[in-house]
Formats: sequence, C-alpha cells, structure tokens
Amino acid sequence: MEHDVFISYNTRMKNVADQIVSTLEANGVKCWYAPRDVMGDYATSICDAIETAKIFVVLLDNTGSKSPHVLNEVEMAYKRIIEDDAELTILPFKLDKEELSKAMQYYIHRMHWIDASNNNINDAINELLQKINTILKPMKSVSPKKREANTMYEHASDVELKRLKVQERILHRFDGDLYFDYSKEFDELNVLDLGCNDGTYMSESLRHIDKPYTLLGLDFNKASIEKAQNTIKDENKTFKYANVEHEDELDEAINSYLIERGLPGFNIINISFVLLHLSNPELLLKRVRKYLVKGGYILIKDVDDNFEVAYPDTNGYFEKMKELSIADSKLGGYRLTGRQIPYMLSKTGYNSIKLLKEGINTLSMDYDEKEDFFDMRFGYFEEDYTSMCESNPSDKYASSGLAWIKEHYNDLEEEFTEDHFFYNFGIVLFVAKR
Ligand SMILES: C[S@@+](CC[C@H](N)C(=O)[O-])C[C@H]1O[C@@H](n2cnc3c(N)ncnc32)[C@H](O)[C@@H]1O
Repeated sequence: MEHDVFISYNTRMKNVADQIVSTLEANGVKCWYAPRDVMGDYATSICDAIETAKIFVVLLDNTGSKSPHVLNEVEMAYKRIIEDDAELTILPFKLDKEELSKAMQYYIHRMHWIDASNNNINDAINELLQKINTILKPMKSVSPKKREANTMYEHASDVELKRLKVQERILHRFDGDLYFDYSKEFDELNVLDLGCNDGTYMSESLRHIDKPYTLLGLDFNKASIEKAQNTIKDENKTFKYANVEHEDELDEAINSYLIERGLPGFNIINISFVLLHLSNPELLLKRVRKYLVKGGYILIKDVDDNFEVAYPDTNGYFEKMKELSIADSKLGGYRLTGRQIPYMLSKTGYNSIKLLKEGINTLSMDYDEKEDFFDMRFGYFEEDYTSMCESNPSDKYASSGLAWIKEHYNDLEEEFTEDHFFYNFGIVLFVAKR
C-alpha cells in the first residue's frame, strides 16, 4: 500500500515515532518511516518516500532540530513545496519547550505545529491524526445536510444581525449598480424583495434609481419588519410580515399590496440569500412567477460553498471550515444552493437565465476589509455550532466541530488577512426573465 505520511525523526525519538505510526495506521493512515520501510539504498529510498508523501510529519526537540538527517529531510520537503509547488503539508510535532535550531526555524517558523510538550502525548497524537484526516479526507465523509426550513432567522440574535450589516456593506460592492442597470428598460420600477430583513439593503440599492419606483419587502422575522417599518419612512416602500414558504401568507401579503397600489405585478423580484434557508425554494420560484410582469426580471443571489477557494490554506483549516459549513449548520442554510438555481429557474418556467457574477475575493481588499469579509463569512460558525450542541448534546460531530472552531478561529483569521493569501467566497448571482 502506498503511504500518505512521511515521518521524519531523530533516532532518540524512536518510541514516539513508533507510537505515532501505530496510531495513524490503526486509523487507516499509511505511514513511511525508517528503518522499517527502507528498501535498497537508504538515501534513494528516503528521497522517493518524501517525493510521494502528501504529509510530512517532523518530530522535533532542540537536539533533534540540529540533526543533519532531519534537517536534510525537512529541506527536501520544503523544496518540494516551494520549488515544485507540490501538494505537501509539513506538520511539525514539537516534543519540548526548548528553542529550535536556527536552521530548523528557517523552514518551519510559519507552520502551525502540534505542541506535545504540555500535552499528554496521546492527546497530541490524536490532534495529529485529526489534522491528517482533515487534509487527506477533507470532503470524503461529508454529505450535505438535508434541505430544511431555517427557522433560526425568525429570531436572529444580535450577533447575527450585526453580521448581516457587515454582509450588506460587502455585498453592495458585489452588486454595484445592478438594480439601476435592470431598471433602465422600464418607465417605472416595482420591486418585490423576498426575505428583505430590515429593508436597508434594497432601500440602499435603489437609492440611485432615477425614475418612480415602489418596493414591497417581505420577511418572517417580525423584529426586522418592525424595524423596517419604523425606520424607513417612505411611502413608496412597504414592509410586511410573511413567511414566504406559506402560500396563504405570501399571496395575501402580495395581493393586498398590488390591489392597494393598483399595480399589475412587479418588474423586478429580488431574492438575496434566502433560497438557501428554504425547505422548497423551487416551489417559491413557481409561486412568485405569476407576480412578475411579462419581460420582468428575477434576480437571485445565493451561495455555493464548492465555489469557495482558499489558497495556500497551509494547514487545511479552510477546507475543514468548508466541510463544517456544508455538512451541517443551523444558521448557514443549504450551502450548495447556488448550483441548483439555473435548474430550478428553468423548471419553473423562467427563461434567458444568466449567471451574472460569481465570487467575491480578497484581491485588492485592505486589511480592514479582509477582517470584515472574514467576519461575514465565518463569524456565524461559533454561534451556529453552539446552538447545534445545545439542541442535541449527544451530537458528536457538532461538539467536535465547535471545539475545532474555537481552537482554530484565530489561526484562520491570521492566515486570511495575510498579504499573499487568496480567498474566493462562493457567491453566485443569477438573473432570469419571465
Ligand atoms: C441571510 S438574510 C438576507 C437578508 C437580505 N435579503 C440580504 O441580502 O441582505 C436571510 C433573510 O431571509 C429571511 N427569511 C428566511 N426564511 C424566510 C421565510 N421562510 N420567509 C420569509 N423570510 C425568510 C430571514 O429572516 C432573513 O432576514
């Protein structure tokens, strides 16, 4: 069987190396370590083994960090990453609190190491195993959660409401003059915003429209609707409570509005970050089509986590976050919604379907913007997983996920805000016509 992990160590640490290999292999992770796996010429065998490994674990203490053998091996692994752009992760496993040699620090100072100096050695080996699994099997064992109605938003927390404000700021840059552009072909604009939150996003987006317009926003979060009604005092903007998945509530809210205003329907329907929270988004698209006038547009913004890219993701933490995001989450919604949208639009009778834009990324963002962006993308995870643990204390996936998030959140943020780091958020924006 081919190995995934190369273990580099100084002979004094043979016992620990044995223990690591035995735990990893008992968990299905095949290792290569000398002298057990040396075949033929020692040096060639080592070079070949590093060449084909996916993970390079180096056991270190002060003395070991000066060992020419270990340094040679680390250098070889390092060169594979830097010069050959190889998909290799170096995981230092540190056994004492002493400083490492300068030469070793040169190679590994930026890497996230496993600290076995404090820990019970078994805990440290388990941490190593967990990291290795994250890297080797980032998505294998994960299937997306079942689509279901997300009721968390009916009573969103203050933290979440604050995060939505940051999201609004970032998204305005993504949308730009979208609504302005789509208003051009109409003399008058009538907009329906489904899942409008407190109304500010759409109000802000319509600010530059240079023709008469009206807006109806619907949401099932009562506090948000009250806020919209109390703060946006504009007779052209109406905000109403409705659960858009309840046909009666949806029809009643829209029909009474259209009758009152004497309107035939809307020429723009906007659905922004809402379909991912619904149990049956296709049914909503089908139901609202009749409220779109012929030639009107439906604009849908949503997410698809598999459009997400993080590079270099040195420790595989962003891959793990993606797994946590897709696999299960209360606030996060159904995270593979993006790809389903053209299919759902087509099935429910819309045409001229276009993917207008995909992705918001860190390029050209300054430090503060990256911090906001990070917060928008990952800021809800802890609340989400805490709530999952509270509602089901025996949910092992949720409790280990929560522990993992707490442990690695700052590391993630640090990597995210580094200059060279590239991150693309899987946001998609579709438009279609009736
Ligand atoms: C992530 S927020 C997006 C808010 C806003 N559209 C934006 O893009 O900033 C999702 C919104 O959809 C609302 N929502 C979710 N499910 C809903 C449902 N079944 N009926 C009405 N509103 C819903 C939530 O209350 C929340 O305000």
